[in-house]
Amino acid sequence: MQTRPLEGKVALVTGATSGIGLVTAERLAEMGAVVVVHGRDRGRIDGAVARVASTGGPPPEAAMADFASLSQVRAMCATIRARHDRLDILVNNAGLINGRRVITEDGNETTFQVDHLAHFLLTSELLPLLLAAREARVVTVSSNAHESAWAGIDFDDLTRRRAYNPYRTYAQAKLANVLFAYELARRLAGTGVTSNAVHPGGVRTRWGREAGAFSIGWALARPFLVSAELGARTSVYVASSTDVAGLTGEYFVECRPRSSSPVSYSEDAARRLWDISETLTGVASKATLPAAMEATA
Ligand SMILES: NC(=O)c1ccc[n+]([C@@H]2O[C@H](COP(=O)([O-])OP(=O)(O)OC[C@H]3O[C@@H](n4cnc5c(N)ncnc54)[C@H](OP(=O)(O)O)[C@@H]3O)[C@@H](O)[C@H]2O)c1
Repeated sequence: MQTRPLEGKVALVTGATSGIGLVTAERLAEMGAVVVVHGRDRGRIDGAVARVASTGGPPPEAAMADFASLSQVRAMCATIRARHDRLDILVNNAGLINGRRVITEDGNETTFQVDHLAHFLLTSELLPLLLAAREARVVTVSSNAHESAWAGIDFDDLTRRRAYNPYRTYAQAKLANVLFAYELARRLAGTGVTSNAVHPGGVRTRWGREAGAFSIGWALARPFLVSAELGARTSVYVASSTDVAGLTGEYFVECRPRSSSPVSYSEDAARRLWDISETLTGVASKATLPAAMEATA
């Protein structure tokens, strides 16, 4: 039996300093992947790297960027590109729900930037490496909270000027995750790179602690939440299992493809989000995908 199915593969897990991301990084390393552990705080990254190293997998690497700063995301990607010529697994996991409306240095609402825009930029910047791996997998950690954004993304108020509500803002960011995962799958069809979204379940992590009044309700729910170990199962499965090789454009819950909300299937909304995300992150318009593919041909 092959005990290390990911031997020789390189994986990047964002938000790997805590909760679901940390366990995902540990499991991928155990399976033999060289894991790049992303975080925003040096001390927390060092702690996570030590935990991932203790699984006995290949020595993990560290990558630092505060996703509230797009220039930090760009700089981190440049470092990763300098170190690696391919990326087999990208788990877009970092995320937060914010109690207050905070505008980033890039002029975006923080939840939308950290949960969606930073990952849009990161995935675009690392696309040449994903394409070079041929059968790479992009796993974007969304949430069933995306269903609460039943009316779709409010494109006219992406900075949430009108009425800031932490959960509604988070729900829209998580809908953006699903729309992005599906649109990426369509744009990468035929390249061998797959893109899927996952919902990890209600998980006992540090998530939800800085969300104002929402945190109180969430704290009451803690006894009913699952462990980070269980919460990471679907991310790890979609990132690594041979069962789902080649499967793309799906939303997974409990390791099974499930339907996401009706509005998440809107190709118009996905294209609009993609175009706006390009503008807001400064990703070179339209040319990105063909240029990246030519670079690896
Ligand atoms: N917990 C749940 O019930 C649940 C349910 C559905 C979906 N999710 C999703 O699962 C993912 C992981 O969340 P979790 O539950 O594991 O929460 P967590 O324990 O709070 O972990 C979140 C991770 O994201 C990182 N992060 C937060 N803000 C960041 C920023 N500005 N820049 C860079 N990294 C940042 C955190 O870094 P620090 O360690 O520095 O804070 C941490 O590594 C999120 O996308 C979340 O939306 C969670």
